[in-house]
Amino acid sequence: MLGKFITIEGGEGTGKSTQVKLLAEYLQNKGCDVITTKEPGGTEVGLEIRRLLVCGDKDKMDATAEALLYFADRHIHLEQKIWPAMRDGKVVISDRFADSTVAYQCYGYGQRVKREVIDELYKIAVGNFKPDLTIVLDIDPKVGLQRSFAKADGMVEKELRFEVRELEFHNNLRRGFLEIAKQEPERCVVLDANKTIEGLHKDIVATVAQRLGL
Ligand SMILES: Nc1ncnc2c1ncn2[C@@H]1O[C@H](COP(=O)(O)OP(=O)(O)OP(=O)(O)O)[C@@H](O)[C@H]1O
Ligand SMILES: [Mg+2]
Repeated sequence: MLGKFITIEGGEGTGKSTQVKLLAEYLQNKGCDVITTKEPGGTEVGLEIRRLLVCGDKDKMDATAEALLYFADRHIHLEQKIWPAMRDGKVVISDRFADSTVAYQCYGYGQRVKREVIDELYKIAVGNFKPDLTIVLDIDPKVGLQRSFAKADGMVEKELRFEVRELEFHNNLRRGFLEIAKQEPERCVVLDANKTIEGLHKDIVATVAQRLGL
């Protein structure tokens, strides 16, 4: 039996990693066979690609090169981890997937890669495959970034002042995720992430039950 593929998307500090873990524990307790994974870097080779993407000077490559690397990581991730697990009937939960490349690299949202280019890369790297369910965690980036910085080093005030200049970028990402969800309502559900961890977890559990019957 083919398993299920659930992706959790959203901007920084929306609670993706926290909720992936809680959802996996919940489904495991219900008797599902579950694995969790993330992008970029869900495989051994992918971790090397992740290092290229997240380390060093932020201007060391342009958005097209980034998009190519993200899709290389994604292709390997699918071939080596996601599809084999699904063939074993597992539920695979991924912290980010292709919607993040649209939000972060695409023209009109995070950067300047044309949507047609991203869609073409998707066809090459992923084919016709899509997640069974994508949960978009939505929050005002001011709140999300505050959570992220609090997690990083406790220097919330200083970092936030610095990040204010970047707020427009994060607002664009947010709009990107919301527009994707609007374009594909059969796949995507947007949840308000400005809730307690437990409250959001309950909403995710209800969504997974309603959409996938799990
Ligand atoms: N609902 C919530 N309310 C308050 N704090 C939260 C909530 N969810 C997560 N947090 C805290 O906010 C921080 C960021 O959460 P988490 O790492 O899960 O977000 P993320 O979306 O994975 O972020 P990133 O994009 O940086 O990976 C963590 O310290 C986490 O404990
Ligand atoms: Mg995370």
